[in-house]
Amino acid sequence: MAADAEQSPSAASPAASYAKMDEIVSLCARRGFIWQSSEIYGGINGFWDYGPLGVELKNNLKALWWQRVVRERDDVEGIDSSIIAHPRTWEASGHVEHFSDPLVDCRACKRRVRADQLEDAGPCPARQGTSEHDWTPARSFNLMLRTQIGAQEELASTAFLRAETCQSIFLDFKRVRESARQKIPFGIAQIGKAFRNEINPRNFTFRSREFEQAELEFFVHPSEREKWFEHWLAERLAFHRELGFRGDRLRVRPHRPDELAHYARAASDIEFLFPFGWQEIEGIHDRGDWDLRRHSEYSGKDLSVTDEANPSRYTPMVIETSVGIDRSCLALLCNAYAEEKLADGDTRVVLRLPSRLAPVQAAVLPLAKKLGEPAQRLAAALRRRFAVFYDEAGNIGRRYRRQDEVGTPYCVTYDFESETDAKVTVRERDSMAQERVSQDGVLSYLQDRLEGGR
Ligand code: GAP
Repeated sequence: MAADAEQSPSAASPAASYAKMDEIVSLCARRGFIWQSSEIYGGINGFWDYGPLGVELKNNLKALWWQRVVRERDDVEGIDSSIIAHPRTWEASGHVEHFSDPLVDCRACKRRVRADQLEDAGPCPARQGTSEHDWTPARSFNLMLRTQIGAQEELASTAFLRAETCQSIFLDFKRVRESARQKIPFGIAQIGKAFRNEINPRNFTFRSREFEQAELEFFVHPSEREKWFEHWLAERLAFHRELGFRGDRLRVRPHRPDELAHYARAASDIEFLFPFGWQEIEGIHDRGDWDLRRHSEYSGKDLSVTDEANPSRYTPMVIETSVGIDRSCLALLCNAYAEEKLADGDTRVVLRLPSRLAPVQAAVLPLAKKLGEPAQRLAAALRRRFAVFYDEAGNIGRRYRRQDEVGTPYCVTYDFESETDAKVTVRERDSMAQERVSQDGVLSYLQDRLEGGR
């Protein structure tokens, strides 16, 4: 007997299937994607742990970014720098002076919030009658996280956990250019952790205190900065579309002059429509020559280059693309989550993740436990190529639902007929269509579907 025939889903409107955050947060914890760090101690605000499925999703996303931004180009080099840089780095970059948010305290209940996010505070518990907070005037709060370096505390010096990954790229600019024998225009890319002592972490992983960034600093001649800004904006938009973000959930928002960061000459945010509204997932910035000039000044090292066209020296301009890996994972989960009414009245939750990013690419499911041995053999063969999950417990319909819920694109069912016709049933996640495929051909069947594309 082939695996259960299922009732196909009715076409749900995109709005109806666009989930609320609570459901996504609950699924993430229940199925092992993401949960609060130090959960057994009651959690720690603004820090998150990625579980067995979450780490796969995140790694797949980082690998795709690295593939598109570094490997497929001969004008981009990758690095992996230390998290802690020389403390002068952050003076030169302007972070010690400028990297702050406005903060207010309530004199009555002692609640502390960002002055531009007062709504996060809710009513004041200490002022019954009015329930309005008694705010202090706003003051600046620096978001850099500090630590001490050195074995003896009295000799220790204060250092900062990096607030953005790009500063080391500027420090390493000369070394990379010379060792990789690159000429302007070229870029340096890095993926890594960044830390910000956010006053109000919120919206699940969206605003965290520890997060990952994937950044590219692309060094160009001053006459070409607009051209490269447009180039990278288009490249990055194409990447987000490849993640499956459609036009109605993805937009570009150019910054107003009064919004620009201290280093930026021009900037555009790529925004995604989360269940809590339009929010930035990536920034494209024209940073000018601010960083290289400042690090030259503070280090005393010349970071200028020779202009090939007319023999003079200049400091390259920087076009930056900076995407949050955690925010992109969250956008992927929000975009993928759907609740579908099936024709038999049942409802299924399905994560329509792009196949190449799905944490499990294929699940091997023997129809009955006694078919376990050949099914295990099939799973072992597929595992050499794909991320495979094996499950023999429970009714087949329920096992399909469990795989739908974590976004597994294909389920491969080994049934009693498989013993005689040497075929298996392959079920596709979105259409729930089932097809008989020869056991010998199932690897290339999946390869075509999972590794096809660009
Ligand atoms: N080097 C430029 C830079 O760091 P940014 O706009 O401050 O620019 C870039 O950050 C990206 O990093 C953002 O678009 C966002 O995706 C991510 N990001 C920033 N702060 C974050 C936070 N507190 N939690 C999670 N992601 C964050």
